[in-house]
Amino acid sequence: ENSIREELIESIRTIPDYPSKGILFRDITTLLKDAKAFRRAVDALVQPYAGSKIDQIAGIEARGFILGGAVAHQLSAGFVPVRKKGKLPAATVEQEYELEYGSDVIEMHRDAIQSGEKVILVDDLIATGGTADAAVHLLRNVGADIVAACFIIDLPDLGGRAKLEKLDVPVRTLVEFP
Ligand code: PRP
Ligand code: ADE
Repeated sequence: ENSIREELIESIRTIPDYPSKGILFRDITTLLKDAKAFRRAVDALVQPYAGSKIDQIAGIEARGFILGGAVAHQLSAGFVPVRKKGKLPAATVEQEYELEYGSDVIEMHRDAIQSGEKVILVDDLIATGGTADAAVHLLRNVGADIVAACFIIDLPDLGGRAKLEKLDVPVRTLVEFP
């Protein structure tokens, strides 16, 4: 368990001052291209939910799509994309949110989730929690029962986990960076 964590940490690349000065960007492309690390990350994320009935995985654009698709396959669940504004073709619900480096709007199809469905939210990283918080609001608006929110990386200093836990969303993360 500890060595998996170390392997994952070593597979994540840090780029200073991207996309703006002072940000330490945690780049998971180096984890994704490492077949062993990618498999271990997905296996570790789903491990607590193996055998429970999960209806849908909601993945947040863009990096949450890559992980969310793999997680959905592993749990035999459907996949629902939560996208940046203007990308989805049918009727949507939308929510504005603040980022570590700006603000944005996310959307989900209104009919993506049936009321009462069990949903796990997936993204690569939680920082301020603004994006995940907005996704939780969208999902609950359409009646989702959010079982958990899962991320590979937690930046605990930015308070995202605490923000989601205040909304009674259980949070699962694999590694932390200061
Ligand atoms: C990153 C990351 C999360 C979000 C976390 O995505 O993939 O979705 O930021 O930040 P928060 O907890 O402060 O909201 P980004 O908005 O950079 O979009 P991208 O995946 O399309 O690059
Ligand atoms: N999203 C928000 N903050 C981030 C960071 N420091 N690295 C990568 N993605 C992020």
